[in-house]
Amino acid sequence: MTKYLARRASIFCLTAPFLIGCFSKKNDESMIGIKDETITEKVDSLLSKMSLEEKVGQMNQYSDFWDVTGPPPKEGVAKDKLEDLKEGLVGSILNINSTEEARKLQKIAVEDTRLGIPLIMGYDVIHGHKTLAPIPLAEAASWDLEAIEKSARIAAIEASASGINWTFAPMVDISRDPRWGRVMEGAGEDPFLGSKIAKARIKGFQGDDLSKNNTIAACAKHFAAYGFSEAGRDYNPVDIGNSTLHNLVLPPFKAAVDSGVKTLMNSFNELNGIPATGSKYLQRDILKGKWGFDGFVVSDWASISEMVDWGHAEDNRDAARIAAIAGSDMDMEGYAYVNELAKLVKDGVIKEEIIDDAVRRILTVKFELGLFDDPYRYCDPVNEKENIGKKEHHDAVLDVAKKSIVLLKNENNLLPLKKQGQKIALIGPLANDKNSSLGSWRLGSDDNTAVSVLEGLQNYKGNEILFEEGIDLFIGETDFRKEIVVNTTDNSKIKNAIATAKKADVVIMVLGEHGFQSGEGRSRTELDLPGLQQELLEEVYKVNKNIVLVLNNGRPLTIEWADKNIPCIVEAWQLGSQSGNAIANVLYGDYNPSGKLPMTFPRNVGQIPIYYNYKNTGRPVENVPVFWSHYIDSENTPLYPFGHGLSYTTFEYKNLKVNSDKPTVNDSVKVTVDVQNTGDFDGKEVVQLYIRDLVGSITRPVKELKGFELISLKKGESKTVEFVLTKNELGFFDNNGDFIVEPGKFKVFVGGSSITKLEENFEIIE
Ligand code: BGC
Repeated sequence: MTKYLARRASIFCLTAPFLIGCFSKKNDESMIGIKDETITEKVDSLLSKMSLEEKVGQMNQYSDFWDVTGPPPKEGVAKDKLEDLKEGLVGSILNINSTEEARKLQKIAVEDTRLGIPLIMGYDVIHGHKTLAPIPLAEAASWDLEAIEKSARIAAIEASASGINWTFAPMVDISRDPRWGRVMEGAGEDPFLGSKIAKARIKGFQGDDLSKNNTIAACAKHFAAYGFSEAGRDYNPVDIGNSTLHNLVLPPFKAAVDSGVKTLMNSFNELNGIPATGSKYLQRDILKGKWGFDGFVVSDWASISEMVDWGHAEDNRDAARIAAIAGSDMDMEGYAYVNELAKLVKDGVIKEEIIDDAVRRILTVKFELGLFDDPYRYCDPVNEKENIGKKEHHDAVLDVAKKSIVLLKNENNLLPLKKQGQKIALIGPLANDKNSSLGSWRLGSDDNTAVSVLEGLQNYKGNEILFEEGIDLFIGETDFRKEIVVNTTDNSKIKNAIATAKKADVVIMVLGEHGFQSGEGRSRTELDLPGLQQELLEEVYKVNKNIVLVLNNGRPLTIEWADKNIPCIVEAWQLGSQSGNAIANVLYGDYNPSGKLPMTFPRNVGQIPIYYNYKNTGRPVENVPVFWSHYIDSENTPLYPFGHGLSYTTFEYKNLKVNSDKPTVNDSVKVTVDVQNTGDFDGKEVVQLYIRDLVGSITRPVKELKGFELISLKKGESKTVEFVLTKNELGFFDNNGDFIVEPGKFKVFVGGSSITKLEENFEIIE
């Protein structure tokens, strides 16, 4: 037994026997009798020993002492964090990223405070920790739940080896607005796909046993409706109707709760006039009430005190009152709870049961993580050394990176590239960039560590690569905490690019957004190629039309000119540490692209919000003059629809069958389809099933994704794919949030994208 354990054990023998049963039981036979004590009993026992201030302390989360991921606290509220920690007034720390630092702070919490309650250490492990996977939107494009789960698993292994036991992921916000920079953090626009991915990510982070030292608690965020910020501007209000709330926004959160997510984070936005952080309706009525969520809710960064700025609370005391009553259990770096909550209870404004409920939830997760068994279980430097940046982690992120690439367009058989005898011009400011493709949110990683496209292509020796930057994308340094200054004037390098392009058989242009041009606080009003990239593209096109455009970006872009003129377009997002290798593998055909868009690409910003599951309107008819639902200056259709993605081979769909044309509400409906690989390459296809409920008491979208399956088919091979539709897929939420299935006529569509035309019909009878 270490000195530390001996000391704690002797204190707790007298004061808190529940704790001994946990973290020293292996060493102390006398504890056998309480081994089976349930976590609930342990939590209750501990709670009964806590002072009001200590309870409030558990509800207080500070950012680590140097790192920030949000604005600094307002004057007058900041505290001496270390002093608070020693007094037991801190339950959690965020932004710790090393076993050394984690151990140092944990030691204070467990050795220097009266009750020795360990800290839970949170961090934004959004798409990998040290070894970075593709940004979440990109991973969603893989539609490969196994690969996504594995990616989260690796993130958990690396994060837990760095002292972290709680990630603020997955972000499960549905969004239809690519102006919002945070679409890069989510799974796109669809609640069905989003729910499946939420489950896969939570499973990856939390594993089967949270108490293992390589699993971490997940956090579904941001509850709720943050993805619907008005005009795509971050932190803006959200005003949406009940149908959107219940059918689009909430399902991925419900899926997260059903899959056992331990925590949720609420959100910066107000929802229909009430800040989500102060919404009793969302947190108590729906989440903890109707859904029975028994984990805890953390606020977003200072979102409790921000209710003052919203004009919803008078001051921090009022904000603390509203948030606690509404069900926000932990205050992230907001200083409202730690400064005000105990006083509010003493003044009789808040009942102590509210505090007890929150603390119970927080302690339960700490027990489940095994922190009371061994508070240092995530702080082992040997484990840290062994488990970070391993080759097998790089192999796995390379695998999911390849699967995340979407082939948007491929004419003239330019792709896959020939492996020998070609002169390839590689042009673009992102072509030899080792930083951008790490994406936004990569706090635990090191800058400039991605494999660039140039490096990836150089691994193939048969061709000659001529590299030119073409332009500088921005002026000065880029940093997660700084605004990017885009270069809009200096086009002096374009002439070198033109000269190089003239000499080449094929030109690969790597253009798009820098990794710090999307993410939190990075909303845009234009979604074109930033800076002088469009000019560069057009100038190069004038001298060589054999262009493969490789896009790096964190959101759908409006690239109508490129779509019209450039023969090949590859959506390569920001793919993480192995980006350049993944891109090279796909360009050379060593991986046949299989990704499908998880978000619609608009033709222009004016079409936004644009999404595949739109409503028909009362005037859907084309080809009548003027008075139908359309624009006079743009088509209604997107540039690339949801679910779109090509392969080097082709797939044919036929024999769509529904097993019964008149099922009852309680029957399940079997749908089968034959898919054949009709092209020249082995390949993978995401077979997608959509339904349309033709008449609804609340109008239904023209298509809703209700099933998908990723299949592999060898050249010439066919497979029959079967889907089963149950009540869960055929119903919807009414405006009270109740799930209903309405008898009536349905269409079912199956194909390789949301615009598939292959359809069948059935009718649900009473
Ligand atoms: C973001 C959260 C994040 C938190 C902590 C906030 O600004 O909205 O998603 O988890 O900061 O870094």
